[in-house]
Amino acid sequence: MKVTELKIEYRENPIGLDVVKPRFSWKLVSKEQNVLQEAYRIVVSKGGVDLWDTGINESSNSVLIQYEGPELAPLSLYEVKVEVWDNKGNQGLVQGTFETGLLGGTNFSAEWITHEFPEEETACPVFVKEFSVKKTIERVRVYATSLGVYEIKINGEKLGDTFFAPGWTSYKNRLQYQTYQADRILQEKNKIEITVGNGWYKGIFGFTCTPNHYGDRVAALAEIHITYTDGTSEIIKTDESWKVTTGSIRSSEIYMGETIDSCYKNEKLEEVVSTSYKMENIIAQESEPVRITEKLPAKELIITPKEEKVIDFGQNLTGFVEVKVKGKVGQRITIKHAEVLDKEGNFYPDTLRKAISVDQYVCNGEEQTFLPHFTFHGFRYISIEGLEDIQLENFTACVLHTEMEETGTFISSNPLVNQLQSNIQWSQRGNFLDIPSDCPQRDERLGWTGDAQVFAGTAAYNHNVALFFTKWLHDVASEQTEEFGVPHVVPNILGDQDGAAAWSDAAVIIPWVIYETYGDVRILEEQYESMKGWVEYITSKCGSNGLWQTGFQYGDWLALDKEESADRTGATDKYLVANAYYAYSTNILRKAAEVLNKAEDIKKYSELYQKVKKAFNEEYITATGRLVSETQTGCVLALYFDLAEEKYRNRILEALETNIANHKNHLSTGFVGTPYLCHALTENNLHDLAGTIFLKEDYPSWLYSVKKGATTIWERWNSILPNGDFDTSGMNSLNHYAYGSIGEWMYRRLAGINQLQPGYKKILIKPQFIKGITSIDATFNSVYGEIKSSWSCKDNVIKVAIEIPANTTAILYLPEKEQPIEIGSGIYQYEYETETRLEIEKFTFDTTLQEILNEPLAIELFNQYAPELMGHPMIEFAYQLSVSEVLANAPTESATLFKMVIDALNKSNNEVGAI
Ligand code: BGC
Repeated sequence: MKVTELKIEYRENPIGLDVVKPRFSWKLVSKEQNVLQEAYRIVVSKGGVDLWDTGINESSNSVLIQYEGPELAPLSLYEVKVEVWDNKGNQGLVQGTFETGLLGGTNFSAEWITHEFPEEETACPVFVKEFSVKKTIERVRVYATSLGVYEIKINGEKLGDTFFAPGWTSYKNRLQYQTYQADRILQEKNKIEITVGNGWYKGIFGFTCTPNHYGDRVAALAEIHITYTDGTSEIIKTDESWKVTTGSIRSSEIYMGETIDSCYKNEKLEEVVSTSYKMENIIAQESEPVRITEKLPAKELIITPKEEKVIDFGQNLTGFVEVKVKGKVGQRITIKHAEVLDKEGNFYPDTLRKAISVDQYVCNGEEQTFLPHFTFHGFRYISIEGLEDIQLENFTACVLHTEMEETGTFISSNPLVNQLQSNIQWSQRGNFLDIPSDCPQRDERLGWTGDAQVFAGTAAYNHNVALFFTKWLHDVASEQTEEFGVPHVVPNILGDQDGAAAWSDAAVIIPWVIYETYGDVRILEEQYESMKGWVEYITSKCGSNGLWQTGFQYGDWLALDKEESADRTGATDKYLVANAYYAYSTNILRKAAEVLNKAEDIKKYSELYQKVKKAFNEEYITATGRLVSETQTGCVLALYFDLAEEKYRNRILEALETNIANHKNHLSTGFVGTPYLCHALTENNLHDLAGTIFLKEDYPSWLYSVKKGATTIWERWNSILPNGDFDTSGMNSLNHYAYGSIGEWMYRRLAGINQLQPGYKKILIKPQFIKGITSIDATFNSVYGEIKSSWSCKDNVIKVAIEIPANTTAILYLPEKEQPIEIGSGIYQYEYETETRLEIEKFTFDTTLQEILNEPLAIELFNQYAPELMGHPMIEFAYQLSVSEVLANAPTESATLFKMVIDALNKSNNEVGAI
């Protein structure tokens, strides 16, 4: 047995930690089966002196164990040693360190500095200080933050590899500072430069595209702590001795892009001006920073019909493009961004709306590499102006987002489903850039609470989102008021608005997702008042019938069942949605009160939950069980949120089935119903129907967008219409994760990976087959270790391979076996016979020629075996005909050719994944 991955507040060897009682987690790794931790011992020391020793503690806890030693000192390094004993007589050890930060903004001794440039100056200010160092250095730490987004260079070298520091928080209440290690950068003579961009603080932002949401002047605050080998130390800090100038970044806006003029020289240094910000609001960085996590090479150079020079990176993403160039002095290169080409093949930046996203570089005659600093774009394509000779190798897309550990993988036998999974992951990456945003490309990119809420469950499978959401939930709580409840966007730059169901419920639902996924009780403690505040807010809005039926609601946002609806809120009664969430959130609050042992609240919210449920039944379900909104979403909420009384459930389920049948087995749900539709069906013995809806390939469906070439999740089911036209409602992002919320169902029901106890201390493995998928390989790296669930069902044999991490146990339901099996940690494999066939014959002689020719493989085969057919003018006329209709007028040997193509297509359709 080995003990690995000592994490301190979810991080390895963190520095700049301002958590006063950090929590320790580790993993046990063992080849043996049924391994459990029997005891642990944690020793925390400082400079070799033990401060806290738990002694040998007989416990199987190995996740988030809280430090209970003497108060931690700021700016100090602590060593942590964890010893573990398992039930097999083995012992293991893991060690790590953590370094505290300033432990509170008021411990900054630096002064805030700003500039007095005229208002029309768009260039980013660069704050400068020169200083010399005479003694031998042991350690250098830089603590810094800004109003705006900043980058620090010492002697020309950028500190750290992160972007968009200090991140976006509710600046009125909270501002993060960052800690940098700079031990080897200092020389005898040093120059420190802090460049500050407008960012979210002062930049153009929001629907109105207006600046100055938090202030009209950017500013910086920094301290360089130098410790010398002789034991002395020194602090260089921002104060009135610094100077300010402008540099090559002539303008930079998140929406608009950045202009860098490398010919620009400014020797003039001006005096800085001191300014202020509430120091109590300054906190250490809470989540992982934003980094370039991947670089994608350019795929193809396209000259469009409009003669634009366009590069395709093959993937819609969030980030920017690194350009290598040797231009003439003064030559200006312009890079524009777009998510798609239109159906004629021209550059189509309309989905960006007013966010023009243009980067411009002025060359200096030398070989140069350009990269923006304070902007990001949502794009797959760029257009290039001002450059004659375009070499693909000189253009690289840099993928930017909060760097979260990847925790989930999902591979199936169905290539379209695999592409869907990839699209979900890319939309998550693209929209987890410091805050959970709706989209990364247009003049919006806001922390919409509803989008985050519906996607949180899926997000928590794909990546470790504990710190990411913790930081954001602190902002949610900080912006919440008794009068308005929880804002629709956090950080809130839209102003006061009454809270709305499903959006504001993020305050209750997301902490619960974090608790269940990571066993994190502190998130419930920290957010409890916010959770409670939201439920109390709803209660205060209720009428005498105990229901919330007033004010603005988003309803089932963008649902298709009321396409003609100008207000985009779907056909489901908006207040039915609101009260369904009222009950759902009240029940979560009750469960949180139980975890936190709040006896009074347990009673209070159990009663309230029952009361809301009763009122819901009275108001929205007739005495004979008819739901007022027999929409898919209406039925799904009544069932999945367990609101309808038992006696009504069957009728509601029937209504749901009828509705789905009326839509020819297609969904019609919006933001609210989509995450739960398949869950509700699976839970109510209609898993096959869930599978049918899930695997639909025509509009509207998840796989429709995949077949249309999407590489991220679209905002709308009909973002691109079957004829290639775009939705022109003015709200058409091609990178919006909300409908990616199906991911949770894929992991939970198809792969069957579920938690029975918080943090997956006890696991449920229950894979459920659907026709059209013959195998799945999925993993989830829980806080205890990796869980694996793989299955295949082919040639009348079911194979299942499971892995359960040490220090956990599981209940396993093997497909088609009645009795569950209780298992401990280890690797398990099963193989048994079945009558079931999951392969589908998607292509038959009834399939139209068009559908067949939509498959690249078919084209390949035709090109190989009957090239004369491909160019034949009759083909176009025959598009709508089925294969048998085509064959009626074709030479007899053609049947053999078609049979071959159809068999090959069916085979490839059923045959990707392996076990
Ligand atoms: C956003 C959303 C959001 C919605 C609510 C849209 O503009 O992109 O995803 O939840 O507005 O109004």
